[in-house]
Amino acid sequence: MSDPIINEILDLNQQLLDSIARGDWVTYEELCDPSITCFEPEAKGHLVRGLEFHKFYFDLGAAEGPRTTTMASPKVRVMGDAAVVAYVRLVQYLDAQGNPQTSHFEETRIWRTEDGRWRHVHFHRSPCSG
Ligand code: GLY
Repeated sequence: MSDPIINEILDLNQQLLDSIARGDWVTYEELCDPSITCFEPEAKGHLVRGLEFHKFYFDLGAAEGPRTTTMASPKVRVMGDAAVVAYVRLVQYLDAQGNPQTSHFEETRIWRTEDGRWRHVHFHRSPCSG
């Protein structure tokens, strides 16, 4: 039996990843809490707080060509007003020669609900270790 909250978190998380893939800052900002924190490779081991760091990449414009983002084996845990989703993020794209490639990252994203609305409050993205 599917849990509506789990489905909502998976749907919001997919919307977030798709907004990144198409360079859609409006949607990304709408889904994120302004105080979001993260660890990701671009931050070089530092904890980043806020949205400005992320906006830099959106301002560069969307990448050329098609892009499909898949959450592989996502696992959602809901704990009170917070939800944790963990998965491997697969992104299919074309390289400069037009050959299909796939990038892969381990991701954990935290969502928190307030006034009936879920917002993204923290994430950790790492290169796949396996
Ligand atoms: N680098 C932005 C994000 O993964 O949410």
